[in-house]
Amino acid sequence: MSRASRPVRWVGTSWKMTKSRAEAVAYATVLRDRARPGPGLGCFVVPSFTLIDPVASLLHGSPVAVGAQDVHWEPSGAFTGEVSVGMVADAGATLVEIGHSERRALFGETDETVAWKTRAVLAAGLTALVCVGEPAVRRERGDAVEFVLRQARAAISAVPEDARHRLMLAYEPVWAIGEGGQPATPEQAGQMHRAIRGELVDAWGDAGHGVPILYGGSVTLGNAVELLAEPFVDGLFVGRAAWDVDIYLQLIAAASDSVGETADFCRLEATS
Ligand code: PGA
Repeated sequence: MSRASRPVRWVGTSWKMTKSRAEAVAYATVLRDRARPGPGLGCFVVPSFTLIDPVASLLHGSPVAVGAQDVHWEPSGAFTGEVSVGMVADAGATLVEIGHSERRALFGETDETVAWKTRAVLAAGLTALVCVGEPAVRRERGDAVEFVLRQARAAISAVPEDARHRLMLAYEPVWAIGEGGQPATPEQAGQMHRAIRGELVDAWGDAGHGVPILYGGSVTLGNAVELLAEPFVDGLFVGRAAWDVDIYLQLIAAASDSVGETADFCRLEATS
């Protein structure tokens, strides 16, 4: 995707470990028939591995991309239980989520494995969506920014120059995610996104402006618009709320409205 034609806002959802095949097919069918994101809005759904193929088949040719929730960094081999980038691409995924905090906390994902996976995904020509975010204790201690920027640096440094346009980041504070999570305020999200943007620009110069930075963690229809209005928040990465396709469609509509009201949009238009 050329820089000029890239979306300037995003709204995506990971289904995590939910949905049967029948539920996934029903959801994707509704999306195919009803998702009409406005110009400048990118949309994606990230099903479990076993559902990528049916969902991608249904959404082929639609404006909604399909992703995978993880991959192994090696292209193939004796890695029982793992799935390679080639396999998810073969199933129809064009994007891979890497380093979600649940994987970091529960499955031993580290900055190092995140970097290996990022390299593998980009080398295969897919988009890497790398998640970063601090646990509550780091925010209480006052070093949330340092913590998140270290995670972001690990991903950024794994990106070859010719693949920079295929990196996306999601800021998802651990304390905001899931049942009992407290969504970040727009100010909290905006401050962290600004810091991440600064890190990108320090590393890459102007090219650092082109990496979308999505916010995730207890996004709902009630807070989506104000989060999207925050400078430096380029989109939303949604869990529970968007597992209901009607809500996801409403989030797409709300995000579509937010495109064009932003300075970013003008900047990208000016370069097209
Ligand atoms: P949530 O999940 O929206 O259910 O809090 C967000 C995420 O983990 O990306």
